[in-house]
Amino acid sequence: MVDWSKASSSGRGGRDPQLVVFSAVRAVDPVVELDDTVDIVVEDGRITRVGPGAATAEMKSSERAVVIEGGGRWALPAFVDIHVHFREPGHEYKEDIKSGLDAAAAGGFAHVCCMPNTKPVNDRRSITEAMVARAREVGGPALHPIGAITRGLKGQELTEMADLKEAGAVGVSDDGRCVTDSAIMRSALEYAKTFDLPVIQHAEDHALTAGSHMHEGAVSTRLGLRGWPRVAEDIIVARDILLAEAVGARYHVAHISTEGAVRLVREAKQRGLKVTAEVTPHHLLLTDEAVAQGHNGLGYDTFCKVNPPLREQRDIDACVAGLADGTIDAIATDHAPHSSLEKECEFQAASPGLIGLELVVPTLLQLVRDGKLSLGRFVAALTSAPSGVVGIEAPTLRVGAKADIVLVDPERTHTVEGAQLRSKCHNSPFVGQTFTGSVELTTLRGQPVYVREGAFS
Ligand code: NCD
Ligand code: ZN
Repeated sequence: MVDWSKASSSGRGGRDPQLVVFSAVRAVDPVVELDDTVDIVVEDGRITRVGPGAATAEMKSSERAVVIEGGGRWALPAFVDIHVHFREPGHEYKEDIKSGLDAAAAGGFAHVCCMPNTKPVNDRRSITEAMVARAREVGGPALHPIGAITRGLKGQELTEMADLKEAGAVGVSDDGRCVTDSAIMRSALEYAKTFDLPVIQHAEDHALTAGSHMHEGAVSTRLGLRGWPRVAEDIIVARDILLAEAVGARYHVAHISTEGAVRLVREAKQRGLKVTAEVTPHHLLLTDEAVAQGHNGLGYDTFCKVNPPLREQRDIDACVAGLADGTIDAIATDHAPHSSLEKECEFQAASPGLIGLELVVPTLLQLVRDGKLSLGRFVAALTSAPSGVVGIEAPTLRVGAKADIVLVDPERTHTVEGAQLRSKCHNSPFVGQTFTGSVELTTLRGQPVYVREGAFS
């Protein structure tokens, strides 16, 4: 048993500084070229020692120490998700800032960036401020809002990005909608550049996707559903890269999903442009066949309806290879909670999106085990790389850093139960499936914000 009451520096007499010892864990942090079995010593919320035998016998036996035995588990810097949808303000019945941050902690995250398609849209200072204030009140992982590019996500009038940034926004996006007008996009890149904000594009040429509900291909034909062709994503990424180059601005592709878009980003990077991209776990793991088969075997699975849609094996292969070689910088969940109201209905009527915050480790470790993704790249894609995109300080296991740490059990096989998720919604085809690998503990500044029930008993 781990007695976490000792971790509170205000508890047990009040004056004792906090001491947490991770004993003989496999610690992985590519930023400091660390992948070794070490002790990590945390004092008063900061990492003070890292190394084999770094924790003295005296420390470990100290009355005030919380000692966590590695036992084959991994200690990683806590994660950063630059693409989540918490539904506050407006649709708190799907998710609110409290439940969203709880889910983030359970997934191993220390930072999340919230997309602006709330109701009202986060297109002004007052809403950004309110989100930041509410998150501070809740505590736990840090919430960084992403402001809208255009007012009301309408694609016409730019927002006051200086105000948004001052209020705490770390980027701008019209996510859920694409900025299709080239003149508006050019102005957005120019304007955002003055404030050093990344422009995060939901790449979808709406003229090519009107009326679509899934990826355009053999499966959509078989199911009789209108499809979203790959080229609708590629055409926007290609145009935006040209615009970003002309302007000299930072450009980030949200939830990249096609072979063509990965190639375009790779070429842009080779040409030295400031272009970055993220990919979701579902676009790394599922094809459009999942829509037809369904997680419950029924087909027309609304839990597999998502924007951009689940594509084909060659797209998955390109996304996995792109993530492995650094073309795709980051893993982002696009955590998009929807309730049964929006999902238990005909496929055409269902809202797109699926949850992801609590499923990253269980679902994606298979790629590491299969040798498709190194553990170092997996960690970087969840920590330093996404932090770089939005310009926040990345969690790290460096001595002196805040002890934002996630403890992972890579061997624990378990079935993801909806009832155990902290998110208010359970819309994911992965719920009910069995995976190997789980988050056991998340600490922020040395304090536990998530402990898996039974992890230390
Ligand atoms: C997003 C949502 O639910 O907010 N859904 C999704 O499928 N990614 C918005 C969107 O991108 O359509
Ligand atoms: Zn999104």
